[in-house]
Amino acid sequence: MKYTLIVFVLTVSLLVSCKKGNNSSSSTSSTDTSYNTLFIPPTVSGTTFNLTLSKSSKQFFKTGSATTTYGYNGYSFWGPTLIMNKGDNVQMNVTNGLTDTTTVHWHGFHIPAKMDGGPHQKIAPSTTWSPNFEIMNNASTYWYHPHLHEKTLEQLTMGAGGLIIIKDPTEAALNLPRTYGTDDIPLVLTSRRFNSDNSFDLTTHAYGDYELVNGTINPQVNLPKQFVRFRILNAETERAYNLGFSDNRIFYVIGNDGGLLSTPVSVTRLVMGVGERYEIMVNLGKDEIGSSILLKAYNSNQAFGFPGAEPATNGAFGSLLNNKDFQVLKINITASTTNAITTLPTTLVSNTYWKSTDATSSISTAINGGQGGSAFYFDNNYYNYNTINQTIPLNAIVKWTFSGGNIFGHSIHIHDIQFNIVSRSSGAIADYEKGWKDTYFIHLGETVSVVAKFDDFSDTTWPFMYHCHFPNHEDDGLMGQFIVK
Ligand code: C2O
Ligand code: CU
Repeated sequence: MKYTLIVFVLTVSLLVSCKKGNNSSSSTSSTDTSYNTLFIPPTVSGTTFNLTLSKSSKQFFKTGSATTTYGYNGYSFWGPTLIMNKGDNVQMNVTNGLTDTTTVHWHGFHIPAKMDGGPHQKIAPSTTWSPNFEIMNNASTYWYHPHLHEKTLEQLTMGAGGLIIIKDPTEAALNLPRTYGTDDIPLVLTSRRFNSDNSFDLTTHAYGDYELVNGTINPQVNLPKQFVRFRILNAETERAYNLGFSDNRIFYVIGNDGGLLSTPVSVTRLVMGVGERYEIMVNLGKDEIGSSILLKAYNSNQAFGFPGAEPATNGAFGSLLNNKDFQVLKINITASTTNAITTLPTTLVSNTYWKSTDATSSISTAINGGQGGSAFYFDNNYYNYNTINQTIPLNAIVKWTFSGGNIFGHSIHIHDIQFNIVSRSSGAIADYEKGWKDTYFIHLGETVSVVAKFDDFSDTTWPFMYHCHFPNHEDDGLMGQFIVK
């Protein structure tokens, strides 16, 4: 491990020194007015969380009308970041201030099905839903969002959603950046298409034309000259992101959906499908104060099946950002903070993942449909609110295999559990994917197996969901439900 780290450090210094001669972005000052300051959603912590979803509006562009949006707690797009501690019992009070029904799902949480906020936990207009549960998940980045069947795309597109950061003593014991908004930065990546009056285009287009980070168009952020942590969520409709920095510097993946990795994984590119979260650390300690680097999506020249690789600039499967390397965030380097994190831990947490041989049963799910732009569905059935598709015995360790996506790639999400990916028919599992996950990208034509234990929560009535996390696919019926009993 020590030798590997020395190689990383050497490579980073080489990249930094190569960069000095011809870096076109480093001359831009931090007061560049073509950029907007990155919005950092304010935090709420404690054990009681009140959320109210209502209509709002946001001025995305410097000229023209504001856009009608949805936000929680009066925010104009997206909601506050909820900070919770593992082991706490939390009381959630979700009030629906819309004229339409909604739900709120706690994505990634291991909680009773009845509290899960899926399509069955409807919140009628002007009513409050008040689930309570114990936080059992590891420290990581989770999120909340609407999950009403056939309305998920619309409500997400309007801006309903928010991040949840879970903290625990294991994470707290590590020397990691964790000053929210200073060296610990949430990045919610999505894009939108706008109509000519600046309203959101709510028709089921797969891709937006304008990149939004935390709801900010063309964002920039000032960050200190030291190690910085980003908590990244892909909150898109379909687009995947092949993330990297403009000087191709190495960065370190330290965590994914359900917790920290065992050791940091060094990469220059990180692929994120819809619904996935990754935590990364990047060393800004060798950058000059006043210089800038860009976080970009290197999405050009991807194979068909990579969502956003399609070349069209408009239409149902096109967008201005498709098949391009585009800018996600401009980072301006400022002075380091006191107590700056200047090193990367060599090890993080000790994880023992489920293996194929641990499985006590298995499930195979086929993705069907999609021919000629038609809807996708699982196992020859569109989602039906009243059908239980799978019954899983409590405490079963299940190997769950998805296959048959012969038209396009998808993002597969299973509620209730965190799993370990044990095989990908397309080849090796990326090192940064080797961790606790609840969502993964399944490539065109691929077969992927994961293993998870369905423990703690049984319920003969209330189901959990499994689905494609592209909200348009999910709304169209690429979803199923299971009960644990
Ligand atoms: Cu992010 Cu079924 O949800
Ligand atoms: Cu899909």
